[in-house]
Amino acid sequence: MSMSAAIEFRGVSVRYDHLPALENISVSIPSGSFWGIIGPNGSGKSTFVKTALGLLTPYEGDVRTLGRVPADLGSLRARIGYVPQYAQLDFSFPLQVIDVVAMGLYGEIGLFRRLTRSHRERAYRALDRVQMREFADRQISALSGGQRQRVLIARALVVDPSLLILDEPTAALDHGSAEGLYDWVNRLHEEDGMTIILVTHDIGVVSQYVDSIACLNRSLVAHGRPRDVLSGDSLEEMYGCGAMLFGHGDVPHMVVSAKDAGKK
Ligand SMILES: Nc1ncnc2c1ncn2[C@@H]1O[C@H](COP(=O)(O)OP(=O)(O)OP(=O)(O)O)[C@@H](O)[C@H]1O
Ligand SMILES: [Mg+2]
Repeated sequence: MSMSAAIEFRGVSVRYDHLPALENISVSIPSGSFWGIIGPNGSGKSTFVKTALGLLTPYEGDVRTLGRVPADLGSLRARIGYVPQYAQLDFSFPLQVIDVVAMGLYGEIGLFRRLTRSHRERAYRALDRVQMREFADRQISALSGGQRQRVLIARALVVDPSLLILDEPTAALDHGSAEGLYDWVNRLHEEDGMTIILVTHDIGVVSQYVDSIACLNRSLVAHGRPRDVLSGDSLEEMYGCGAMLFGHGDVPHMVVSAKDAGKK
């Protein structure tokens, strides 16, 4: 196992009951890198990140996250920010935005302890990073879906993670907000050296930012630099249709070839 890997999988298979969700995955995600994970619905992307976080235990194979078996992460767990695909939060409960962000600190300070001024300052700083400070005193229920999503990301950032895992964070965001999110996630990566794992369907947009892309379809279909991965047969293998990228200015776009487009 490499010391400098943020996440390392060796021959990892994960099953739900008897149904395989991931098969024989071996991959090493270096510390400080920005990885995109793509693949069709049900291809195991969320399963992959939950396994890395220790929320699921592999049926076979070895996982190391920040150099540890995920179950033994202990205090290192506080170095990981995670935004789940479907965040569970009761938005009808009266909570201010700042309190929601401070929830990210409960691992450090305990659930019923009062927040100190320094905790609140950290929460404000996290809101700054997602350009939501002006909403700090608002009720979470009074925000739009995209604004709530940013607050949940701030909650993941409040611990100052060295590893940030975002599972389809742009699902509730409009195109402009999604691009804005990629921009500042990229800034966290470039300025703070944060390792970023981003699960997404926005292949074209994200390939502008990431160092590497992993294509999952239960097994690891391909991984590597976006240009190499996305120009090969991996998209065809993943999506079952001919697809290719072409440059359009600086932004690559994915197109599905006409002869295959109607098949599936
Ligand atoms: N809790 C569960 N119990 C049983 N099967 C599950 C469970 N969660 C996921 N699965 C199955 O495992 C496979 C992989 O699911 P996963 O959620 O990892 O896919 P995904 O790539 O994240 O999909 P999406 O793009 O829709 O988010 C799917 O076939 C799914 O039905
Ligand atoms: Mg998913």
